[in-house]
Amino acid sequence: MIPQPKPTPGDTSWFTKARFGLFIHWGIYALPARHEWVKQREELADEAYDVYFRHFEPDLYDPKLWAKAAAEAGMKYFVVTTKHHDGFCLWDSQFTDYKATNTPYGHDLLQPMVAAFREQGLRVGFYHSLLDWHHPEFPIDGFHPLRNHPEREKLNAKRDIRRYAEYLHNQSRELLTEFSPVDIMWFDFSYPSGRPGWVGKGRDDWQSEKLLKLVRELAPDVILNDRLDLDEGWDIKTPEQYQPREWLRVNGEPVIWEACQTFSGSWGYHRDEASWKSLEQLIGMLVDTVSKGGNLLLNVGPTGRGEFDERALERLMGIGRWMRLHSRSIYGCTASAFTPPPDCRYTQNGNRLYLHLLHWPYRHVHLEGLAGRVAYAQLLNDASEVRMLELDPQQPAQNITMSGQAGVLTLELPVLKPNVTVPVIELFLKEDAIPETL
Ligand code: GLC
Repeated sequence: MIPQPKPTPGDTSWFTKARFGLFIHWGIYALPARHEWVKQREELADEAYDVYFRHFEPDLYDPKLWAKAAAEAGMKYFVVTTKHHDGFCLWDSQFTDYKATNTPYGHDLLQPMVAAFREQGLRVGFYHSLLDWHHPEFPIDGFHPLRNHPEREKLNAKRDIRRYAEYLHNQSRELLTEFSPVDIMWFDFSYPSGRPGWVGKGRDDWQSEKLLKLVRELAPDVILNDRLDLDEGWDIKTPEQYQPREWLRVNGEPVIWEACQTFSGSWGYHRDEASWKSLEQLIGMLVDTVSKGGNLLLNVGPTGRGEFDERALERLMGIGRWMRLHSRSIYGCTASAFTPPPDCRYTQNGNRLYLHLLHWPYRHVHLEGLAGRVAYAQLLNDASEVRMLELDPQQPAQNITMSGQAGVLTLELPVLKPNVTVPVIELFLKEDAIPETL
């Protein structure tokens, strides 16, 4: 059976068809270029971190190029960090001075970005940090850059999370009204149990119930993620930097989900990271996600000059080359009730079943449960026929012919792998062969 998640409050109808989005982590941490958590990792006080604010000048920033790169990669939506944990805001918020307009660059970065992506037909999502390592009312906790400050108790005595929560709600209202309609609101993150020896922060600190009400009032259809520390009211579950084993469930019930993944490990621009995933891995990740009924949100960390660096562009272009020929096996597709052979993934859309071959086998692939159920088979990249062999299970193997197996359909493949990163075979199921699909 294919899992059928229960409907949620927001409008996910477009989302589960879109399947593929771009995550953007951008802020002044692009300058140190050694992880977006650099302020907390290196325990930098505001005065030390301020050097990046004072030098932030992305002179090459052209969001039209970003939107074009995303659209050409086949992405249907984007989610950008309006504010990350360091508190720096990309837009001209009336509730803070800690924003792009006050850097040497001097302009709002979010307005033109939203406009450019909308122009390319992509939906708009905002990642907004619940943590704030700049706000003077945000109590120092185990994650805070000042966690080892000798006077942290004294500093904390003056901090009131309720005043910070008011700021958080005000900015959320501002984003949802000024950029309406916002399609996705992606809050990050809650840690109610804290770190050993520290109290955490969760729903009481963010006043999550109240924030949820505000979000739904301003944007009833918005897709809300699951990181506000609420048991219900959210739309999507968001596994980070891992591929779930199967369709994600919460309390045994299947849910709508979106995996978020990086190219190289960190989310913000990281100059020296060498762990960049290959094109095969990235396309495999997208396919794997859709084969389990999820979406993939793939992250770019633009540079301090305002560009996607060449490693990111190269991969996005590679994904785009693959998507141009294969997006039919991604958009509108979901998990299949059939079990794929080793090193393969199925996705399915109605009577079309897509076999993704992550490893190209030698001449044959054997499909369990599909004997007699497929009307036609072709390679998706060039619509060339793939022949289905009629092997008799009663017939023993001979010198140059294999034997059949009950219920198994054997396809005959070319010896040479087609010249695409992940080849896909499109199988047209006979109408009566799709009982448990969408
Ligand atoms: C995390 C990290 C972070 C990143 C995010 C993306 O929770 O704190 O830096 O923005 O996940 O999912």
